[in-house]
Amino acid sequence: MNRDYRCQTDRMSGGIPAPRESLQQNIERITPQNSFNHALPVGRGTCFDRRGFLRWGTLSVSLLSVLGFARIIQAFLSAGREEREPTRFMAGLWDEFPRGSVVRKRSIFVVHDQNGIYALKGSCPHLGCGFRWIQEKEYFECPCHGSRFERSGHLISGPAGKPLQHVLLTKNMKNEIIADVLKAVPDDFRLTQG
Ligand code: FES
Repeated sequence: MNRDYRCQTDRMSGGIPAPRESLQQNIERITPQNSFNHALPVGRGTCFDRRGFLRWGTLSVSLLSVLGFARIIQAFLSAGREEREPTRFMAGLWDEFPRGSVVRKRSIFVVHDQNGIYALKGSCPHLGCGFRWIQEKEYFECPCHGSRFERSGHLISGPAGKPLQHVLLTKNMKNEIIADVLKAVPDDFRLTQG
């Protein structure tokens, strides 16, 4: 591209090239006090400033696009990892679940009530979002559409149309509590210490 068309400040109005002395005077007008204005169209340095600004702008936009794309890829990969969560795993030892507690372990919640320990599948029966235990309110709440469930898993309010799923807990020889997320059990199932 012809430099004269990009650097229009090198020309006086009417398209007549500015005398070199005039440009030099313009440059000399830039003092430390007005150096902030250096990027404004004064003198020969202007073209560099504007082009530099555009170059940095383009670079920044490209960088932000790359970062955004990287985040999307990362989210996609994490979602894949969640799907690969084991369905049978060691949830913990008995002492990790004191009476009255509600503890998140991987894809389940382990709850200890007066009758023993039970596990609730951690995905909402409405559309499968992960829900959370609200300690102050003492209920489970789904962040997606607001369904609420009691500590026992019973439905308090929808849009979910059914209670939380109870899943099997067993104890092995080492007294470890094993959860099997794929095995549903009735809601009165309890694992006891004996
Ligand atoms: Fe939980 Fe909709 S997915 S309320």
